[in-house]
Amino acid sequence: MKVLLINGSRKEKGCTYTALSEIAKVLESEGIETEIMNAGKMVFDGKVNEAVKEAVEKLKSIDGIIVGSPVYYASPSGEILMFLDRLFGAAEADLRFKPAATITSARRGGTTATLDVLNKYFLYNQMPLISSRYWNMVHGSNPEDVLKDEEGIQIMQTLGTNMAWILKSIEAGKNGGVAQPVAKEKVFTNFIR
Ligand SMILES: Cc1cc2nc3c(=O)[nH]c(=O)nc-3n(C[C@H](O)[C@H](O)[C@H](O)COP(=O)(O)O)c2cc1C
Repeated sequence: MKVLLINGSRKEKGCTYTALSEIAKVLESEGIETEIMNAGKMVFDGKVNEAVKEAVEKLKSIDGIIVGSPVYYASPSGEILMFLDRLFGAAEADLRFKPAATITSARRGGTTATLDVLNKYFLYNQMPLISSRYWNMVHGSNPEDVLKDEEGIQIMQTLGTNMAWILKSIEAGKNGGVAQPVAKEKVFTNFIR
């Protein structure tokens, strides 16, 4: 089993990365493979097409996904929004039914608004959202601050444990004959006809 963790920050090894790494450590300790992809940096460097293409390939062989973003002006980073808009257009079917989680990192405020925006990508696409023991956030302006945020670190670790539990439960269900739902062809209407 494998979980892809996507860092939506333009900083490769900043606060969001530090929080994602705490989740990855727990997943690895549960026997689940992990990979952190620095999509935010790629988009910031003007490589949005490459980032989406790379992620589309990776999605084919993963079982769960976690997206992290710093808070920018009380919202997710522009980089992660551009990336997710494109990714969900390109790989909706490969993402569907896979458990997902979102996390955020802020110096001070705008965290729940950021999580709300990020969660909607997954809620739109029939993906079970994994929760923790509080809203999935850490606080800090640098990785050292984040590591001092004991509550935030526990939230990340609990999220890792819960993601591992759901992934293993899905696997056990599959082995026991519980079939994944079959996606129906979507009915699209508008408000005119
Ligand atoms: C453009 C920009 C906007 C920001 N806006 C906010 C904000 O609205 N609220 C906040 O608490 N922190 C804000 N920050 C601080 C970052 O969210 C915070 O330091 C975060 O932990 C950085 O994560 P990173 O190291 O992964 O990039 C902002 C930072 C930048 C660069």
